[in-house]
Order: sequence, then C-alpha cells, then structure tokens
Amino acid sequence: MVKIETFIQKAIERIKREVKGRAIIAVSGGVDSSVCAILANRAIGDLLTPIYIDTGLMRAGETERIRETFKDIDLEIVNAKERFLQNLKGIIDPEEKRKAIGETFIRIFEEEARKRDIHYLIQGTIYPDRIESEGGIKSHHNVGGLPTNIDFDKIIEPIDELYKDEVREIARTLKLPTEISERMPFPGPGLAVRIIGEVTDEKLEAVRKANTIVEEELLEPYKPWQTFAALLEKGTGVKGDIRVHGWIIAVRAVTSRDGMTADTLQLPWQTLQKIESRITREIPNVTRVLYDLTPKPPATIEFE
Ligand code: XMP
Repeated sequence: MVKIETFIQKAIERIKREVKGRAIIAVSGGVDSSVCAILANRAIGDLLTPIYIDTGLMRAGETERIRETFKDIDLEIVNAKERFLQNLKGIIDPEEKRKAIGETFIRIFEEEARKRDIHYLIQGTIYPDRIESEGGIKSHHNVGGLPTNIDFDKIIEPIDELYKDEVREIARTLKLPTEISERMPFPGPGLAVRIIGEVTDEKLEAVRKANTIVEEELLEPYKPWQTFAALLEKGTGVKGDIRVHGWIIAVRAVTSRDGMTADTLQLPWQTLQKIESRITREIPNVTRVLYDLTPKPPATIEFE
C-alpha cells in the first residue's frame, strides 16, 4: 500500500469525484465500513446518509452496540429481520444462501435510496472479498452475492484494494476508537454462514448463545484473529437420563494476518473443556461440542 496519508487523501478525492450528489453509506459496525464512513464523511459531509440494516443474523447485543457506538451521528437503523429470514426459508446450499442475503441487502438499500432520491451507494468491500468472490471460492455478500440488476448509478468501494490489516492501520490513523479499529471481523451474512443447512429461529438462537460463550471465554485471554461458534447438525445425547436429539456446535478460533490463510489456535485443554461444559449446560438443545482443528486452507474460516 502507498503511504497511509496519501491513500486517505486519494480515497477522499475519489469519493468526491465519483459521487454526484448524495450517497448512502452501508454501515455494519465493523472496521471496514466505519473507515469508509469517515472517508465519505470527509468527502461529502452532510450529503452522506449512513444506514445499518439489522438482518436478524447478528450476534447477541450487536444492534444495541452499534446504536450506542454511532449515537452521535444520524444513523438510520432498518429492521429487516423478518425479511431476511423469509428470503432464506428453505435454502440449504451455501452459495444460494449468500446470494439470497446479498440480494436482500441491496434491495433494501435501493428502497432506502429511492425514498430519499439517492443514486449512490458506498460500501466497505475489501480486497479479499473480491478475490474470494471472483476466484469462485465463496460469494461474499457485498460482491459475488449481489444480483446483476442494481438500481444505483454507481457503487463506490473506497477500500477495495486493501487487506484487513491495512484497513486497521487506516482506522488507527483516522483515530477511530480501538473497539472499532481492532474489532474482530464478522461477515456480512452473519450467523447464516455459521449454520449448516436451513436458517431457522431455533438454530439462530442456539448458535447466538454458543457464540456469546465462545467470545466470553476466548476473546480477551487469547486475542484470536477470529473466534466463533457454528451450528452443524443434530446428534444423539443424554441429559438428566433423558435422550436428547440436540444440536452439534463447532468452536472455531484462528490466527491470521489478513484472512487469506489462517492457523488454528492451540488452546489449552481446560479452556476447551470449560467452553464445552458451559455450552452444553447453558443451551438445553445442544448435546455435543467440537473444536475445529482445520487451518485455511484446506478449510475456509467461515463454515459456508
Ligand atoms: P473465509 O470464510 O472466506 O473468510 O475464510 C475470510 C474472512 O472474510 C470474512 N467473510 C466475509 N466478510 N462478507 C464479509 O463481509 C462475506 O460474505 C464474508 N464471508 C467471509 C470471514 O468472516 C473472515 O474474516
């Protein structure tokens, strides 16, 4: 990457040049979209409308946290939980899932834009989103997951040539709060790509609770690049002498530089046992907990 200050200056100039009038910035609460929001704000100021879509596929407390973090700006929060769940109904194929999510996102942004007579969308796509989508590995929700007919004059992606670690450096230079600049990545399609098969309310609730436990046990002490829970299938278990056909939860914790490759974190056995016992005790319909040992490659970080 060129010098950080030069990049920032060029990105602001590019936004000024490409946006003719007003624009929506898609905010997710993560470092990529927050950096774009600051750059866009410097470029077009009041002509920018920040919008966050609550997909219902977020981690516990995420929407409240975003509301709090962005309380000083006029962030529009669109509740689209029902719509995402409806559009995901019956879908089991990972790529179809990603496409349904990408399309739902863009249709909602189009509707919000139409209401305000806005023709430009700015989003925080980064280079790996593009490589993985174009390389046919997986359709990231903001690139390969997008439909071909889009009702914007232009989608502007100011940081689409950067890797995550470079985005973080820019976030630090822009003096974004540490909880944003160092924030663990969370994919746009959210918990949907951490649920194998159809996304349902019941599965979402189980994986969300398991994810909270995993983050509580691993984030602070081990500072992984990324850690989370995924929900696989059902397996037979026994709780209080009663057979339970419950969910199988996989725990993932990886180190990485830029998300393109990743190594599995070597966790102490006691830590893994504590996670297992908390998950199976605190979530009634989970009977089994696995630790994913696989690096990337051959696995990817997310399960779908
Ligand atoms: P994978 O699973 O491809 O993930 O090894 C690499 C990094 O990208 C994140 N990821 C996404 N981010 N939209 C995003 O904004 C997506 O569709 C998407 N899919 C994966 C993943 O969380 C990891 O940090």
